[in-house]
Amino acid sequence: MSLIQVRRWLRESEHVVVLTGAGMSAESGIPTFRGVGGLWKQFRAEELATPQAFALRPNLVWEWYNWRRELIAGTRPNAGHQALAQIEQRIADFTLVTQNVDGLDGQAGIRNLVRLHGDIWGTVCTRCGERRENREVPLAHLPPLCHCHPEALLRPGVVWFGEALPAAEWERAMAAVQRADLLLVVGTSAVVYPASSLITMGIRYGAHTVEINPQETRLSGEMEVCLHGSAAEMLPDLASVLF
Ligand code: OAD
Repeated sequence: MSLIQVRRWLRESEHVVVLTGAGMSAESGIPTFRGVGGLWKQFRAEELATPQAFALRPNLVWEWYNWRRELIAGTRPNAGHQALAQIEQRIADFTLVTQNVDGLDGQAGIRNLVRLHGDIWGTVCTRCGERRENREVPLAHLPPLCHCHPEALLRPGVVWFGEALPAAEWERAMAAVQRADLLLVVGTSAVVYPASSLITMGIRYGAHTVEINPQETRLSGEMEVCLHGSAAEMLPDLASVLF
């Protein structure tokens, strides 16, 4: 019954927002952060994903990002990413807001993409601030340096714990959620703030809210519908109603 309801909402919606987390890329072979096999079960976030950690041990932090970049480079978008790209083609106002930094969503062809936590394929110079794409895998020199100065360290172009989200991306995400008829929340544990506040914002602004996740999350109880399945199995089913 609930799947039928969600299919109907999707067919009738003009403004659709999809908020994704690490579970979206799990079926591409990229580990999630929490739960069984999660990265934060094996590694300590505060030693690898904070500005303080980078200031103290830039090499260690870069080794970890180098490893993740290699892992991600060997993956492909899954059927869930492809289904989102198809949904985008049929919805007048579609926005994908992602917490993921892997770039698989863009690779699947999704265009209107808001990257809340940055991009693992970007670097930012800690001295001149220049943001650049860097797809070298593995990186030949750790830590990588900027051309602006012989000692200017590059950092990964991602958002770390304790840092603000990129302001323009956050504004775009909020605006999209506020006008959404339908908010699909896919593969996120909804524990990381402020990304998770977009869900409560969607509820407050009257969007239909649907969670796609094999597990219960902190916000499952707030959703109108929870579809207990994986992104790569549920999203193609939803996309098919538009074709
Ligand atoms: P989490 O690892 O916290 O949560 C992943 C969610 O995906 C869980 O709720 C799983 O049940 C679900 N999941 C697993 N496999 C799935 C599948 N095949 N299909 C659908 N769902 C599946 O990841 P996030 O919520 O993305 O931040 O974590 C948020 C942020 O915390 C990340 O962006 C990262 C991390 O620390 C930063 O690095 C700043």
